[in-house]
Amino acid sequence: MSKPKPHAKSDPGILRYDALSRINHWLIAISFVMLVLSGLPLFHPFFWSLTGLFGGPTMTRILHPYIGLFMTLFFVIMAIRFFKVSLIKRHDIQWLKQIKDVLSNHDERLPPVGKNNAGQKLVYWIMVLCVPLLLVTGLLIWQPYFADAIPITLRRLAAFGHAYVAFLAIITLIIHIYSGIWVKGSFTAMIRGRVSKPWAKHHHDLWYEEEMEKERKEREMSKPQHQIMTGEEPK
Ligand code: HEM
Repeated sequence: MSKPKPHAKSDPGILRYDALSRINHWLIAISFVMLVLSGLPLFHPFFWSLTGLFGGPTMTRILHPYIGLFMTLFFVIMAIRFFKVSLIKRHDIQWLKQIKDVLSNHDERLPPVGKNNAGQKLVYWIMVLCVPLLLVTGLLIWQPYFADAIPITLRRLAAFGHAYVAFLAIITLIIHIYSGIWVKGSFTAMIRGRVSKPWAKHHHDLWYEEEMEKERKEREMSKPQHQIMTGEEPK
């Protein structure tokens, strides 16, 4: 089955992500990648050469927690803005039960999907779990500020938890990026903000219907009064 183009020149399309959401998302993405690159050498000497990217081992150790604070701040903004569209609905459970159809590209067998599919919603909720856990465990082991005031057993538990949660977040991120590459047009959506109507209908049909309904209502509202009364179409 031929997949719809993410964006056609003649079609102004539908707004999927406004400028604030896009800037916010890419700031999180960049800082998350920097966190991974600076966190891995703190985790295991195998990754030591990565400290070169941050000006050496000392700078890596200093910078890592600050990048974490920066990412957490922007993540809170994103988590609030994307909260409503990430709530799990009944059709999402069905979508998850049909994960085999998702992976074998049988989109036509899948139940209708809203602005985000169940996979995208799971990424959101896993990150909502991981980011606060990373923040709390990270603060407990932050050497110059808090760590000295924390009992050693708690510090050890925090260091252990920090590494495990980071592992879960990294795996989730890899799946997230892979899904973005898998569904052609997703990157265009997060870069340009708009998607074509056929793309929206194909991948997120419930959301497409909602947007079309909004568009119909807006057209109705902008019609002069006499056209509404007579049902006459604008010339
Ligand atoms: C290099 C890193 C990243 C890349 C390349 C990337 C790519 C993308 C793309 C292409 C979309 C649009 C998907 C669509 O609308 O169909 C998206 C959405 C989203 N991204 Fe990312 N992202 C990255 C990092 C992150 C991180 C670190 C987080 C959270 C901590 C995150 C959370 C989200 C959320 C919640 C959405 C909206 C729902 C969804 O599509 O999953 N992203 N991302």
